[in-house]
Amino acid sequence: MGYNVFVTRKIPEIGLTILRENCEVVEVNYEDRILTKEELLKKVVGRNGILCLLTDKIDEDVIMAAKGARGFSNYAVGVDNIDVATATKYGMMISNTPGVLTDATADLTWALLFSVARQILEADRFVRNGRFKSWLPVGFLGADITGKTLGIIGAGRIGTAVALRAKSFRMRVLYYDIKANETLERELNAEYVDLETLLQESDFISIHIPLTEETRHLISTKELSVMKKTAILINTSRGAVIDEEELVKALKERRIAGAGLDVYENEPQLTEDLVDLKNVVLLPHIGSATVETRDKMAVIAAENLVAMMKGQIPHNLVNPEVLRVNKR
Ligand code: DGY
Repeated sequence: MGYNVFVTRKIPEIGLTILRENCEVVEVNYEDRILTKEELLKKVVGRNGILCLLTDKIDEDVIMAAKGARGFSNYAVGVDNIDVATATKYGMMISNTPGVLTDATADLTWALLFSVARQILEADRFVRNGRFKSWLPVGFLGADITGKTLGIIGAGRIGTAVALRAKSFRMRVLYYDIKANETLERELNAEYVDLETLLQESDFISIHIPLTEETRHLISTKELSVMKKTAILINTSRGAVIDEEELVKALKERRIAGAGLDVYENEPQLTEDLVDLKNVVLLPHIGSATVETRDKMAVIAAENLVAMMKGQIPHNLVNPEVLRVNKR
C-alpha cells in the first residue's frame, strides 16, 4: 500500500476498484474531457504511477514531470501516444492492453465495411427523411462482398481476426505484413503478397498496423493511385497511417469507391471536406467500445499499474529494455 496513482480520465469502475484496493491514493479526472498539457504536467507530479489514455500525449515533458513514477499504464493497445524511448531512458515502464479488444475491433471493422459497401447510413437517412415511397429497382446499389478479394494490411491479432471472419463470405484473402501468417494460410489459403499487389488486387482493404515512424502515411498518393476504382478502404488502426488529405482527394475524384474510418490523422479534427463526402462512413474511434471489452481493458490496465507499483513486471510490458536500464 501507500501507492499514489493518477488516472487521467474516468475508466470503467471495475478497473478503478482494483486500483482503490491496492493503492492509498487514487485520483481520477472525473471531468469528461482530455486534460490540457498544463493540467497533465501538474497532475503527474509526485505519483507512483499513472493510468493514461490514447488521447494523452505522454511526451518528454510529461515523463520528466512524472519523474520518480514507476511508469504509465496505457488504457489501449496502441502506444503511439507515448514517447516510449524517453520513458525507457528514464527507467519508466510502459504497458498496454493487447488481446482483449481483438474481437470487438474486428467486429467493428466488418460493420464499417458493410456500411460503406451497402450504403447503410445513407439508406437509413433516406427512410428517416420520409423519402421511402416505393421499392427501388435501381436505387442504393452497393457492392457484393461475398466472393470478393479482401486485402489485410497488418496480419497481427486484429488483422487475423478480421481475415478469419471473411471465411463465411468465401473471399479470396491477401495479406501484407513483415512476416508470414501460418494461421491465415492454413485456414483461408490466404496469400502473402507485397503491398502493391494487395492494393492492386483487393476489393476491400483493411488496415491493422500500429502507427510508427515507418508506417506514418503508408497509404498516400502512390498507394491510392494503384487501388481499384471500385475499392473500399477501411481503417480501424490509427489515422495517420493514411495521408488523410490525399485520401479525401481520391474519394472526391472517385479514384476509389469509398472509405470507412474509425480513426483520423489529427483526431478529433477531420481533414476539410471529409464530412461532406457521401462515399465515407465516419465513426468516433469506437473499435473497442463494447461494455465487455472496455471492462477487460480497465482490469488489465489497472492490474498492469498495480504490478508496476509492487515492483513486479506487468504482463503487458511494452518496453522490456527498461528492466536493464533499472538494473544499472
Ligand atoms: C487501442 O486500444 O489502441 C484502440 O485504438 C482503442 O481501444
